Amino acid sequence: MTLAGKTIVITGVSSGIGGEVARLARFHGATVIGVDRNDAMLTLDGFIKLDLGSTEAIDAALLLFPDKIHAVVNAAGVPGTTDKDLVARVNYLGLRHLTEALLDRMPKGAAIVNFASILGAEWPKRVDIHRTLAKTNSFAEGQAWLAANPAPQETCYQYFKEALIVWTMMRGHQLFLERDIRMNSVAPGPVFTPILGDFVAMLGQDRVEADAGKMKRPALADEIAGPVLFLCSDDARWVAGINLPIDGGLAAAYL
Ligand SMILES: NC(=O)c1ccc[n+]([C@@H]2O[C@H](COP(=O)([O-])OP(=O)(O)OC[C@H]3O[C@@H](n4cnc5c(N)ncnc54)[C@H](O)[C@@H]3O)[C@@H](O)[C@H]2O)c1
Repeated sequence: MTLAGKTIVITGVSSGIGGEVARLARFHGATVIGVDRNDAMLTLDGFIKLDLGSTEAIDAALLLFPDKIHAVVNAAGVPGTTDKDLVARVNYLGLRHLTEALLDRMPKGAAIVNFASILGAEWPKRVDIHRTLAKTNSFAEGQAWLAANPAPQETCYQYFKEALIVWTMMRGHQLFLERDIRMNSVAPGPVFTPILGDFVAMLGQDRVEADAGKMKRPALADEIAGPVLFLCSDDARWVAGINLPIDGGLAAAYL
């Protein structure tokens, strides 16, 4: 796999998985522009400090992004222990807003990778709701729809990861047909990053212990980076609209 000559935008670059994706992308020859609300503690080719939960902040920062972008990796995310409106804004609405705003800078063959989660695995149970939300055309329209159809606070993380998988499939199909841009999502199982403790608090001890019995261990962040960058590479040129589990086989244990 080579990423030489590619410019890749990576959000959530200042911690955990986003940081490891950035390191590996540079190792494979990419030019990496990182995005995060916190300062980055690694070497990058460019960095944009930005609150991805705010359309105003995203719009104001657009002129800082490169004119040509070959891949966008949307790794920024907040856990479900925070307010559901914030989870909606960062994990779904803001992600969509930034992605749509960058599309015109993406040439044919470009790729987008969205971070879903194994916790989004139950999307088929709510597919009609998520499909309706996916059809909202803007951040504001999505927010208005969510005000009328509120997501549950306790499971808001799962809800918006499910929604992201459904949007990725629907929009990904369209983007590949119309623009030759590939959009996919990845669904990691538990990963050793600063957010992991929040997941334990969010899911409760019983669920965590049940899952622990079904897997070798949580992943290391660098074990997630390779498959993400494969999806960004030209080797994945016929892969579009999928949700790729990267979970050491955990999802297979739910059968
Ligand atoms: N760690 C896990 O177990 C796990 C499992 C499945 C999915 N995920 C998903 O993987 C992605 C990366 O998670 P991680 O484990 O690296 O978490 P992390 O907390 O280590 O990193 C998340 C990054 O997102 C940034 N971020 C959060 N809100 C932001 C905002 N409003 N604007 C800009 N940046 C913002 C944070 O500053 C941080 O750098 C997330 O989308 C997460 O939901 C994580």
